[in-house]
Amino acid sequence: MRIVCIGGGPAGLYFGLLMKLRHPDHSITVIERNKPYDTFGWGVVFSDAMMRAMRAADPVSAAEIADAFNHWEDIELIFKGRRQRTTGHGFIGIGRKRLLNILQRRCEQLGVELVFEREVDSDLDFPDADLIVASDGINSRIRQRYPTMFKPDLVIRPNRFIWLGTNKLFDAFTFDFRRTEHGWFQAHIYKFDGETSTFIVETTEDVFAAHGLDKLDQQGSIDFCEKLFAETLDGAKLMSNARHLRGSAWLNFSRLICDSWSHFNGKSDVVLMGDAAHTAHFAIGSGTKLALDDAIELARQFDAFGHGRETVGAVLSAYEAVRRIDVARIQNAARNAMEWFEVVGRRYADTMEPEQFFYSMLTRSQRISHENLRLRDPAWLEGYERWFARRSGLDVADNLRATPPMLTPFRVRSVTLANRIVVSPMAMYSATDGLINDFHLAHLGARAMGGAGLVFAEMTCVSPDARITPGCLGLWNDEQMERWRRLIDLIHAVGPAKAGVQLGHSGRKGSTKVAWEGIDQPLDKDGWALISASAIPYQPQSPTPRAMTRADMERVRDDFAAAAGRAAAAGADWLELHCAHGYLLSSFLSPLTNVRGDEYGGSFENRARYPLEVFKAVRAVWPEGRPISVRLSCHDWTPGGNTPDDALIFSQMFKEAGADLIDCSSGQVSKEERPVYGRLFQTPFSDQIRNEGHVATIAVGAISEADHANSIVAAGRADLCAIARPHLADAAWTLHEAARIGFNSLAWPKQYFSAKSQYEANLARAAAVGNAT
Ligand SMILES: Cc1cc2nc3c(=O)[nH]c(=O)nc-3n(C[C@H](O)[C@H](O)[C@H](O)COP(=O)(O)OP(=O)(O)OC[C@H]3O[C@@H](n4cnc5c(N)ncnc54)[C@H](O)[C@@H]3O)c2cc1C
Ligand SMILES: Cc1cc2nc3c(=O)[nH]c(=O)nc-3n(C[C@H](O)[C@H](O)[C@H](O)COP(=O)(O)O)c2cc1C
Repeated sequence: MRIVCIGGGPAGLYFGLLMKLRHPDHSITVIERNKPYDTFGWGVVFSDAMMRAMRAADPVSAAEIADAFNHWEDIELIFKGRRQRTTGHGFIGIGRKRLLNILQRRCEQLGVELVFEREVDSDLDFPDADLIVASDGINSRIRQRYPTMFKPDLVIRPNRFIWLGTNKLFDAFTFDFRRTEHGWFQAHIYKFDGETSTFIVETTEDVFAAHGLDKLDQQGSIDFCEKLFAETLDGAKLMSNARHLRGSAWLNFSRLICDSWSHFNGKSDVVLMGDAAHTAHFAIGSGTKLALDDAIELARQFDAFGHGRETVGAVLSAYEAVRRIDVARIQNAARNAMEWFEVVGRRYADTMEPEQFFYSMLTRSQRISHENLRLRDPAWLEGYERWFARRSGLDVADNLRATPPMLTPFRVRSVTLANRIVVSPMAMYSATDGLINDFHLAHLGARAMGGAGLVFAEMTCVSPDARITPGCLGLWNDEQMERWRRLIDLIHAVGPAKAGVQLGHSGRKGSTKVAWEGIDQPLDKDGWALISASAIPYQPQSPTPRAMTRADMERVRDDFAAAAGRAAAAGADWLELHCAHGYLLSSFLSPLTNVRGDEYGGSFENRARYPLEVFKAVRAVWPEGRPISVRLSCHDWTPGGNTPDDALIFSQMFKEAGADLIDCSSGQVSKEERPVYGRLFQTPFSDQIRNEGHVATIAVGAISEADHANSIVAAGRADLCAIARPHLADAAWTLHEAARIGFNSLAWPKQYFSAKSQYEANLARAAAVGNAT
């Protein structure tokens, strides 16, 4: 076959040599516009796993690369006058030039033709090629020739960075954060050979502009960075090798995703590879890895289908199908890490203490979890757990294992939760006339014995017409209050859990069947009239609600206050106001459901006006020493709906009105929603609200393991974690998860004590078998 690789970066060179190695008869040319030793950039990093893959693909070049590697284990953070360090992180660094030269030499050795200093204009210049590899980098000219085929989605990210080098050698992957009068800068620093370290400086666009860096030439920027990082550089100079870039040399990262990676140009198949097809931000250092993995996979598919012209179509389809999954995974992690660096100044750096800031930075990609850190550096993690526990008011003796973050106490007003786990409110649709019955006692009593610090019952309705279904709980009369008292006494009697009541009104989502007879389906008979912010039905088949009048507002506000008073009298420890999921109060907050022209619609202030009136009425009757949380839909997941930035604004308003925590849920406001589900998918909303809004939060949604909850709480992404469905599957979720991570100091109900050690021993045995196999 005749193969032409346009662009001699890691992707083009490595693919060229791998194909020649497998099939020496192929005629392969790699065309590069630069000179052989002329390239932009300093060092690149990748992981030990990448080296294994390269060793399997071509042991010869892998051995040479391995010899040239700088291997290091430590990460160091320089922040607020402190240096903190952790180990066990296993990185490899190599100079980009060195890597390319090794690949170039190997290409020549195997007979790949290398053409330097030729700028390719078009893939059509090679009509004899069976396969053209567009390995021409992020600004790929070949990709740009076929925008309707490849459908590139290129997003220019807001941060600015400059890629510099220095002759000072750093023995750890070092992150250095410095504050100026305008904001924060961070340096990502790593050694990659015996003389040089990469030194990437990054900041936000506004800080960049405030310092006039857009007006400085390269030397001016270097002088600025040398001054800013003088303490760390300790007299060493910074250097640029991007002299070809005009202006200041500060770049913006471009995130690239393509719809399709290959195209037949009429003569040859053209395939995108490496940065031409996709990019991953340098925050997790995976761009070169992706390029090399692409090359390995494409060569592997030729091995699988056969090295002939006729197999090219099938090979390219298989290559894309396999690589897309890995690329999406890495881009996802890279996006999390990149976003962390984009918001670090305004979200974490000013307020977080150095210990927690370090933890937050280490877990920024959300691929490294709490237990993962324990495997890497147990001593460091244990030290952090101890620090976190002490900050939460626990002092654990040095000879005992530190309490995991999710099991540390949390105090708000005069209520102390034994730990950070919450049984999330879950409607059970099992009441008659809104009354708690044996089912609720058994259901919530069991969960109160299961180890969680706070047990919420389901959304409890403030009037008969506030119910979602005829099976919903209520607190609109004294009989209901007495049943609540019974339940709350029971929760308090069987363990340390506190009892929470979530008050709500269904609004336009009311008068429906119970879940198992048809979620959100209107009742066939005995339905009731609906009210909402505006007269918009939830679904085409739903009854149209009445837009609330002032009289409706006063009645419902008073219903909420009366129900809150009953909850207090029944002994509830915690109140939550349900302002999420498209129910009545949520319908005011979302512009999708609130089109009012009066002072209750339009601006943020107007849309929040009625929910805040209700909140204040509830706060006024609710005891001063007991907390109130507010549940928000932090994202409507629908064009034109609320976004997380909007939720931050509402959170501030509730905080000012006296809310103690924001419970960060999302969606269920519109049937048009397109949520992006996934592990911890709503936790970023909690992170933003907690760390930019400076209000305590509850994270909820797809948090299913202790490892998730520990990571969230330890990183300060939330104060509490609400766990819903896992608590339906396992009433004792907290007790069981604590045992699963080997923390055996959590007390079980004394009646169950004899089961505890057996349970723990079984888990330990199963883990030992798992490790051995
Ligand atoms: C600041 C920064 C730090 C980074 N750090 C890391 C890191 O630590 N680890 C990591 O793995 N990755 C890192 N990367 C990313 C990494 O450099 C790229 O992802 C990787 O080089 C992609 O390889 P590639 O072969 O696809 O493209 P490139 O390396 O960009 O190679 C493309 C080649 O094509 C040539 N070319 C382009 N157009 C033409 C044309 N028309 N004719 C002829 N030749 C052409 C170019 O000159 C270039 O040599 C970093 C990137 C940046 C910007
Ligand atoms: C059966 C069921 C009923 C629910 N009822 C309520 C409710 O009454 N109030 C509420 O705010 N959320 C309710 N939710 C949402 C949960 O509290 C939680 O936010 C959601 O299930 C995501 O958490 P999970 O991934 O841990 O299940 C309910 C969820 C389920 C599964």
